[in-house]
Amino acid sequence: MAKSYYVTTPIYYVNDKPHIGHSYTTVLADILTRFHALFGEDSYFLTGTDEHGQKVEKAAAKRNMSPLEHCNETVVRFQELWKKLGIKNSDFIRTTEERHMKIVRMILQDLYDRGLIYKAEYTGHYCVPCERYFTEKDLLEGGLCPDCHRPTNELVESNYFFKMGQYRDWLVDYIKSHPGFIQPEFRANETLGFLRKELGDLCISRPKSRLSWGIELPFDKDYVCYVWFDALINYISAIGYGSDQAKFEKWWSMAHHIVGKDILTTHTVYWPTMLHAIGLPMPQSIFAHGWWMSGSEKMSKSLGNVVNPMDMIDVFGVDAFRYCLMAEMVLGQDASFTEESFVKRYNSDLANDLGNMLSRAVKLTIKNFDGRIPEPGEYEDVDKELMTLVQAAPAALRTAVENMRLDRGVDEVMNVVRAANRYMEKTAPWTLAKQGNTARLGTVLYTAAETMRVVSGLLLPVMPEKMKELRMTLGLSEADAVCGDYEKLSSWGVLTPGTAVKDITALFPRIVPKEEEKAEPPKAEKKAETRPEAKKTETVAVGGDSVVTIDEFFRSQLKTAKVLEAEKVEGADKLLKLKIEVGSEQRTLVAGIAKAYTPEQVVGRTIVIVANLKPAKIRGIESQGMLLAAKSGDTLRLIAVDGGDFPSGCSVG
Ligand code: MSP
Repeated sequence: MAKSYYVTTPIYYVNDKPHIGHSYTTVLADILTRFHALFGEDSYFLTGTDEHGQKVEKAAAKRNMSPLEHCNETVVRFQELWKKLGIKNSDFIRTTEERHMKIVRMILQDLYDRGLIYKAEYTGHYCVPCERYFTEKDLLEGGLCPDCHRPTNELVESNYFFKMGQYRDWLVDYIKSHPGFIQPEFRANETLGFLRKELGDLCISRPKSRLSWGIELPFDKDYVCYVWFDALINYISAIGYGSDQAKFEKWWSMAHHIVGKDILTTHTVYWPTMLHAIGLPMPQSIFAHGWWMSGSEKMSKSLGNVVNPMDMIDVFGVDAFRYCLMAEMVLGQDASFTEESFVKRYNSDLANDLGNMLSRAVKLTIKNFDGRIPEPGEYEDVDKELMTLVQAAPAALRTAVENMRLDRGVDEVMNVVRAANRYMEKTAPWTLAKQGNTARLGTVLYTAAETMRVVSGLLLPVMPEKMKELRMTLGLSEADAVCGDYEKLSSWGVLTPGTAVKDITALFPRIVPKEEEKAEPPKAEKKAETRPEAKKTETVAVGGDSVVTIDEFFRSQLKTAKVLEAEKVEGADKLLKLKIEVGSEQRTLVAGIAKAYTPEQVVGRTIVIVANLKPAKIRGIESQGMLLAAKSGDTLRLIAVDGGDFPSGCSVG
């Protein structure tokens, strides 16, 4: 039976205007679903909106509307944005739907009947924007909310409590004995840190006299359910808990929650204890990703520094925006958003590397083979080298996706694209054409086209529309173009010689960076007119011109590399020619280290290289990257990885 995969996003507050933070989580979940489907798994993807609580009640009152009318209007913002972003969710749950509310009531009644919910008097500090209670000791100085730093209100009232505290030891044991339950690992440690303190019981009600917009408690009509207790249940109510047992069992056993790090505690403490009390197994994993930051602050509506995804779609197009969101954030860590860094990423990866490679392969095929995929002849070493890389890519990508390292997976594929461009330089098909060497030219162009077939198939989950276009350009039928059959992607020789390729228009036209726009003649300015001015966030430079932003720093891809072979470059006393291994790829690198190191001294070492440096010819040898070394006067020392054996191809930074 096919493995199944169930992924969820948080359900977003219906009041908020979706920004790139919300878009990131949803696009990430969409891409993960598509990848798991590509790997042959039966996949289900749930998102939705969180519609109860004080914020909604207040916003609706301001507009003289009922809360539900207000929600019906605002929910559309999310639904429309997801459509625009190519999100293919299996379901969209709203917490105001009866199918959800009846399950919340059922769970509340069951816990109450079993004595797991009780009534008591409570003094707390409530933060309306976060919809959360805090105890005195949680608050920041001046009674401020520890999460959003805004004032809280002190409240004394009778309420209902869920006996969460009694599950602390169980939860600590569960987390410790299930590595991978909370990811990344440091977030599991953060939760364990939180659990070191005493764990109190959870207040799960609000008196209607203070808040009426919520699900009424089935055992006390004067109260509604606390919005978080209600919201978390969406993950099971939507897939049939209490209504369709077979459906529920199928998906719940394979559940993966994706959340931002802001809601770690609710998902790794409240939710597991609730599930345990209900008598349900835990989800497979809870992954907390980092935040998109504006400078040094979290991007959020309340801080007024959000970027509107619609503006970004206008600038980049949907697919390229999805790509940049994935490539620019190391999954799990925070990332600082600037439009400039997205433009750079777009231009280098998509317009240059991918766009260039496709256009070279297709244009030469059109010109020299009447627009038909040529028959490959005997493969030479240079062809086989690229083939080996291409064939290793699906498994490398799959491992990265399964380990929740999407950014790394995408980079693995882009490495193949970069290697393919180098392959074109090495084999120079344009020269073969001039020489009339049709047989060899056919092999090179077939190899190039096959490489693009695999690459585009692997990137389909990230850029479904653009990759479909690319694949149809290679002559694949529409059905094959949208279906990245994993088996086919792992095989070579799928394109049928003789198939007609399609003439291409630029898939990813270069975007003129803003600083160039200013300097460009009127023609380029015309293009700029169509670009909306997306809200830009400035990074404060502290040290003058030489300061780089973290994004600028990470434009250079520093990677570990193992030196496999080394030899002196004839006639150059400073140079060594190195053969290095960078993950699954091998490269040649020329380095000016011969005065400090003999070839024997460097072989076997794991060094650090700049992996995305434009290749350069040094003494007739193409150097594909640059190693890092420290220099003091005439003394030179390699920057190498400390300790014993360490894999190559890992990112450094
Ligand atoms: N309604 C609750 C979640 C209930 S889930 C049972 C909620 N909603 S929210 O609208 O505030 O959405 C929070 C989520 O939006 C974050 O966890 C994250 O997925 C996403 N993001 C919001 N701002 C973000 C950034 N600046 N950066 C990245 N993602 C963030 O909390």
